[in-house]
Amino acid sequence: MRGAHVASMDQATRGKASNTGLPAPADAAQLEAILAAHADSEGALLPVLHAVQETFGYVPAAAVAPIAEALNLSKAEVTGVVSFYHDFRDAPAGRHVLKLCRAEACQAMGGRGLAERALRRLGIGWGGTTANGALTVEAVYCLGLCAIAPAALLDGEPVARLDGPALDVLCARAEAP
Ligand code: FES
Repeated sequence: MRGAHVASMDQATRGKASNTGLPAPADAAQLEAILAAHADSEGALLPVLHAVQETFGYVPAAAVAPIAEALNLSKAEVTGVVSFYHDFRDAPAGRHVLKLCRAEACQAMGGRGLAERALRRLGIGWGGTTANGALTVEAVYCLGLCAIAPAALLDGEPVARLDGPALDVLCARAEAP
């Protein structure tokens, strides 16, 4: 990995808070520290992206060029990995995050219909956030709760044996301002 530096980070976005009040999208010092911590590591991209998301709540577009430069990758390679893995966000999440399981056992227990119902009700797609910034819905692929499917996580807390009314209640609670 080349020496970590963030000279190419967009100066215009550095240090500004986002409109949603979530962490600033491009804190050069924090990004530089993340890149420095992974200097000389083999296969550093995934650990770096995880650290960036943990720090900022998502992978800001402004961070792609410095990450690519530090890891000797193209920006397209970095962006491709961010968009391929469902774990990574390219925009800040809402105040609550609902992860609905889309793996086989949950789908077999009606998960697909439940998810469609929830997304329709909220007026968003997968990975989307409600207009009031309250709730983001993301896909997850098996939570290890197959025996009590369909399963979900709300802000990291497992929810099992979901049905329509239960999911409506969950969404309504999470959507509340
Ligand atoms: S398939 Fe959904 S928890 Fe395993």
